[in-house]
Amino acid sequence: MRESEALRLQLRQFVAREIETPRLQLRQFKPDDAKELHRIYSHPDSLKYMSNEKPLLWEQTRAVIDSFTEHWKNHNFGVWAIVYKNNQTLIGHCGLKFLANTTEIQIGYLLFKSYWSIGLGTEAASAVLKYGFEIAQLEKIVAIAKPENIASRRVMEKIGMKYEKEAHYYDNDVVYYSIGREAYQLESMRLRFATQKANISSSIPLFLCLG
Ligand SMILES: CC(C)(COP(=O)(O)OP(=O)(O)OC[C@H]1O[C@@H](n2cnc3c(N)ncnc32)[C@H](O)[C@@H]1OP(=O)(O)O)[C@@H](O)C(=O)NCCC(=O)NCCS
Repeated sequence: MRESEALRLQLRQFVAREIETPRLQLRQFKPDDAKELHRIYSHPDSLKYMSNEKPLLWEQTRAVIDSFTEHWKNHNFGVWAIVYKNNQTLIGHCGLKFLANTTEIQIGYLLFKSYWSIGLGTEAASAVLKYGFEIAQLEKIVAIAKPENIASRRVMEKIGMKYEKEAHYYDNDVVYYSIGREAYQLESMRLRFATQKANISSSIPLFLCLG
């Protein structure tokens, strides 16, 4: 790779560590986030479907932030803080990390309960998937969930992941989904085409009115 190309890529990766979607800002965690994040991680509903199921202790929340920060230092992917743009509140996390004891990379997400079921999980996850394939240049992204975690499974499906198998990770029976680069590219093309089509058809009545 030429030096200027390498520099451009590095710059792109640095810039992309902040992601903006219509309603969300995905940014790096900072130590100051501990209080807000702890409010989320200590809520029983947030952790119901996670591996240990128990609300986190204060020290554990701080350790999680440290581990996210450390991960970003060593890799060009990691976990972002999710900020709801409307009220500038930290509402959860979403990102990419290694699946336990494997070289596979998993996507994960968690939102504070008041923000569930309005499409924000999907909005964050699709932005992270895009980052994974287009910036971090990953070949495959996987996701796991407890079988009964329907909301999480729906998010996986809505971002184009496919159910692959039942598996066992982090001491839990889980369902395992995945998406490869090629399927991601096809899905992105399909979505772009669908959006263009929607724009064309929504403009038809206007033409009819004018006509
Ligand atoms: C998983 C999580 C991030 C989803 O976030 P979200 O913002 O609510 O997700 P979305 O609104 O984008 O999509 C949720 C989908 O699940 C559906 N859903 C939610 N609960 C459901 C239920 N009990 N039964 C059927 N469908 C359900 C919603 O209707 C929606 O699907 P639709 O758009 O087809 O209607 C959120 O529920 C969460 O933080 N859960 C706790 C942490 C967690 O479980 N993380 C994942 C670990 S694997």
